Amino acid sequence: MQVHHRPQVEDPLAIHARAVAHRIESVERDLARLGASGAVHPSVRELLDQSREELDRVLERGFSTASGALPIQLQHAAILRTAERLAELLAAASRSEHGEAEDAAARVLLGCLARELPDHFALEERHGYLSQALEEAPRLASRVEALEQEHRLFTEWVRRLQQQLDAPGVAVAWTEVYADFGKLHERLLDHERAEGEILREAYEDDLGGRG
Ligand SMILES: [Fe+2]
Ligand SMILES: [Fe+2]
Repeated sequence: MQVHHRPQVEDPLAIHARAVAHRIESVERDLARLGASGAVHPSVRELLDQSREELDRVLERGFSTASGALPIQLQHAAILRTAERLAELLAAASRSEHGEAEDAAARVLLGCLARELPDHFALEERHGYLSQALEEAPRLASRVEALEQEHRLFTEWVRRLQQQLDAPGVAVAWTEVYADFGKLHERLLDHERAEGEILREAYEDDLGGRG
């Protein structure tokens, strides 16, 4: 799928639109690779449907105006939705309530997080948001630094989990994967919440200062 609207100065919303288009393509490719196309799990079906709707809405909105915090908000919502669905699948797997479709769905959703988290972090670090927040309120520097450190931790954590699910010839220890992902999920929620706080503080201060 191609995203045709290319602004001269790239709007982070355009970067996000490409990420959503890439998500759709990658999930479809993973489904084909895992041989799960005949029995697409509802979690994955939902992810695809919501992604297509999101892409349509973003393309309809266009990239001619400043998108503000919208791309990052959309990414937070998508990442947390995917993490929530994966947590549910792993919870069921840890209770032995799973078959091929569930296992494939867990791999697809984890693959989705593994691809999207680094891109999301790059968007936060390079295209405004956290760096923009720092310009507005330099006193937030140490908290922003701590959050950026966490980005690397999440990226490595998800990769480790992927290796556990993809290890050839080894039975997946679903209970362990569920417990480990539970910790990651909790920390990711805290991370995004802390980020929301920083953005709020930075922009509220900014508004106060100018008012
Ligand atoms: Fe972040
Ligand atoms: Fe974030």
